[in-house]
Amino acid sequence: MNPGLNCLSSCHNHGFAFAGTVYDSSGKGLDSVEVGVKLTNGQFYSVFSGIATGNFFYEGSGLNLAGADIRVRDASGEKQMPVNSKSSGACNSCHDGSTNPRIAAP
Ligand code: HEC
Repeated sequence: MNPGLNCLSSCHNHGFAFAGTVYDSSGKGLDSVEVGVKLTNGQFYSVFSGIATGNFFYEGSGLNLAGADIRVRDASGEKQMPVNSKSSGACNSCHDGSTNPRIAAP
């Protein structure tokens, strides 16, 4: 539902530690892409984007994604986000398709 929107904004806060949407090269949501987040404390979390929407989310709270190692991966390869001290779990807040590109599959 609502692919591309910032799932962590106040109108739509489900208690996700991180969430966003993965797109294919034609701009459609793409399922079955793994999103991996490794925090600076060494904890690793991984989720897959969902069928039809490309949305992904990890339920929880209190994860600090500042400086985390963030990657997307599928059978064709892997893409890594440049380490960013401002990164957070609200992936689509930055990857909104205008300020920064959408999260694209590898
Ligand atoms: C504070 C803003 C911000 C947040 C929050 C953020 N990103 Fe990014 N991300 C960027 C910037 C800036 C880049 C580099 C420009 C680009 O390629 O989009 C980037 C790049 C990436 C890339 C590499 C893109 C490529 O084509 O090589 C991936 C993958 C990515 N981010 C995934 C995520 C995921 C998943 C999340 C949420 C867990 C997230 N990002 C949250 C700002 C952010």
